[in-house]
Amino acid sequence: MADRVIVIDFGAQYAQLIARKVREADVFSEIVSRDLRAAEIAAMEPVGIILSGGPASVYAEDAYVLDPEILELGIPVLGICYGHQSIAYALGGKVERRESSEFGKTELEVPGPSLLFTGLPERQTVWMSHNDAVTAAPAGFTVTASTAASPVAAMENTERRLFGVQFHPEVVHTEHGQEMLRRFLLQACGTRADWTRESIIDQAVASIRERVGKEKVIAALSGGVDSAVAAALVHRAVGDQLTCVFVDHGLLRVGEAEQVEEVFRANFKADLVHVKTADRFLSALEGITDPEAKRLIIGETFIRVFEEAARQVGARFLVQGTLYPDVIESGTRDAARIKSHHNVGGLPELMDLDLVEPLRDLFKDEVRAVGEELGLPEELVWRHPFPGPGLAVRIIGEITRERLEILRAADAIFMEELRRAGLYREIWQAFAVLPAIRSVGVQGDERTYAYPLVLRAVTSEDAMTADWARIPHEVLERISSRIINEVPGVNRVAYDISSKPPATIEWE
Ligand code: XMP
Repeated sequence: MADRVIVIDFGAQYAQLIARKVREADVFSEIVSRDLRAAEIAAMEPVGIILSGGPASVYAEDAYVLDPEILELGIPVLGICYGHQSIAYALGGKVERRESSEFGKTELEVPGPSLLFTGLPERQTVWMSHNDAVTAAPAGFTVTASTAASPVAAMENTERRLFGVQFHPEVVHTEHGQEMLRRFLLQACGTRADWTRESIIDQAVASIRERVGKEKVIAALSGGVDSAVAAALVHRAVGDQLTCVFVDHGLLRVGEAEQVEEVFRANFKADLVHVKTADRFLSALEGITDPEAKRLIIGETFIRVFEEAARQVGARFLVQGTLYPDVIESGTRDAARIKSHHNVGGLPELMDLDLVEPLRDLFKDEVRAVGEELGLPEELVWRHPFPGPGLAVRIIGEITRERLEILRAADAIFMEELRRAGLYREIWQAFAVLPAIRSVGVQGDERTYAYPLVLRAVTSEDAMTADWARIPHEVLERISSRIINEVPGVNRVAYDISSKPPATIEWE
């Protein structure tokens, strides 16, 4: 088993980022609830514990309370922001509300040698976000850094291996944040840093083999990276016990179906059932314009088609590409239903199949790294996320073959130009949307009355929030003129400059 670091969640958004940064240092990390007691944490045998940031005040009535026994386990602890204050508060230091809060980039001063800051500059920029501050460190601690508003911006007790930082080392604006985390992980925790692509794959393969035994497994491919990597891992583990089913609902992008077929049939020699059922989906969608109705029809039709294929295979297990953020979300969140999500893996319990979820512990970037290591082509591994209902949620109003053709052609030009401009990878997701309106234009001497095409491109870490991508004007110009010239039926191009929230990434 790989060494693990436990991240205690005092605020989900911070905890996830910390967990990812720990993994970037090749150490497995796991987020746990703040309700866990010291004994439960000790039983997980972590090499280190990180207390995340959080929104509350340590002395507020409803504050999240740190079980002080956690600091007595002899396991190294790093407190970040709220976590830093919690350590100070629990061990008799002083935490106070300050007149002025500290937000954003702040200059940090590091007066002398310390474990976390070894070899780092005496002055450096860190990211702050707090109202309260530690004003006196507990007995036995050395103050290792300060800022104008935080007299104890960092502290450590190397004998007990307890550390605290008021700022956020996990965010990119903290210049040397990742190096500080590494020093904590390697020097304070003495971890072997053994969470590498190879070890991720070895562990996944071993656990799939143990779970599946000699039974048959079925995997639904969607054309996206998650289902492909999940299937490739299962194939590595149990070879031809796996059958992949690819339901082509006719709502895919240019070349997608062909690529999936080629990768799995030719490269992996996997048993692949390619069900081409565009007609069935398109006739079920005829005349439907309501977004939720579209999603439900596609979801149900998909299940029926998939069930028919699965029955032929006689599998006992179903591969599902659930990722770690989904696991965390479903454990912590009670979100309102914004959209009925449809995942090819998310087939209902009705199917009476047991699940194999080889990506359950992984973040998206790790899934991609594993995909590369397993030999999936770059184009597939780095493909932008694509919703289960496909282009159906990018065509506003009725879905017809003609409108699908327009959208596909425009989308392909958009992607080609983004790749050519070297922007594809830095963008989380980009696509074209076809609205259900027409507008007047002029082409040659002729009046046109045709569809506008909306371009959407966002940057994001996890799709929970997103910002519109600042694509250079020249690139937008090229895309616009190519689409208008090359795609019949389009006479206008618009760029969507909304962030999420309040908009969502997809239009439906
Ligand atoms: P929204 O539009 O809710 O999308 O901001 C967030 C992310 O989820 C993707 N998405 C889906 N993925 N099945 C999926 O597998 C779906 O039904 C679905 N709907 C949206 C969307 O592309 C974005 O990455």
